Amino acid sequence: MRTVFWEKNELKMIDQRILPGRFEVLSYRGHKEVAHAITDMVVRGAPAIGAAAAFGLALAGYESASSSSSSLLADLQAASATLKAARPTAVNLAWAVDRLMEIASASSAERSADEIRQLILDEAQKLADEDVEINKRMAEHGAALINDGDTIILTICNTGALATVDWGTALGVIRTAHEQGKKIHVFVDETRPRLQGARLTAWELEQYGIPYEIISDNTAGYFLKAGKVQKCFVGSDRTAANGDVANKIGTYMLALAAFDNGVPFYPVVPTSTIDLSLAHGDLIPIEERNPQEVLGLEFEGQRVAPQNAKARNIAFDVTPNRLVTGIVTENGVAYPPFEASLRKVVKE
Ligand code: MRU
Repeated sequence: MRTVFWEKNELKMIDQRILPGRFEVLSYRGHKEVAHAITDMVVRGAPAIGAAAAFGLALAGYESASSSSSSLLADLQAASATLKAARPTAVNLAWAVDRLMEIASASSAERSADEIRQLILDEAQKLADEDVEINKRMAEHGAALINDGDTIILTICNTGALATVDWGTALGVIRTAHEQGKKIHVFVDETRPRLQGARLTAWELEQYGIPYEIISDNTAGYFLKAGKVQKCFVGSDRTAANGDVANKIGTYMLALAAFDNGVPFYPVVPTSTIDLSLAHGDLIPIEERNPQEVLGLEFEGQRVAPQNAKARNIAFDVTPNRLVTGIVTENGVAYPPFEASLRKVVKE
């Protein structure tokens, strides 16, 4: 089953807030509800939220009562702003919405409102189908970097089927290498505060029969220094033109420890996640979420933090390109200097 799919005039999404305890698929008929589901992380992971936003815009087309193309376009423009504001860091969100809006704008002069509604739904479906195909191509390139003797791969957050329409980015690489018969053991950073590693990556690895162990985020440095990890594969929410990689908070510390110990560090990044308009990673907008996600943690049935404690909840960090060995894309692996190599893979 896909993470995000269109069925019977509704957008359906696996509710990632309650996995692995419960598996539920939620239905959406309105773009505002879709925007809220993205903010609330019913759906998360850069490519998955891109696809969700695309179908959200298609829903906005059907919500609009406009009979003329020009007024439909105005409604779509308002909906696109709502959807794009749902989360700031993953560029796939704006990329997907802009892709559909370009089609709607380009055809508004010669197509009827109903034709435009159908065109953007078709484009959303195409984008979702392409995501799966791109992930599988990317996984082949990435799996070629995994040798038979590489027993331990370290990853953070969830970059699997759940973070995409299907198959995954970094976890897709691991899945393909496993299917190729390579002996792999995965260390999964639990990924506080929302525990995407412990909850979602572990759940996926169980389904695929890939051996794994969850480690607390602060354990990664220990195993990297002990020589127990052969490679790190991570995802990205936005990669700048110079190869600086924004990804789940904690990725930077992981990259530092990998670099210090000579362990190759590979972000797995579809070209839709590469933002060539940003020269470097300091320009990437970084989401800060509700402190309650940090403060709500319980230990032995009790809230950990004192009642009046304050917290900061930064959702992403940026790993500078000097710590990155290579960036795996659907068009091959880009190596430093990334300014040139990323432009090349994006053009392809
Ligand atoms: O906050 P999330 O769970 O949406 O963060 C997701 C990640 O950081 C992933 O690594 C990223 O989206 C790339 S993998 C599809």
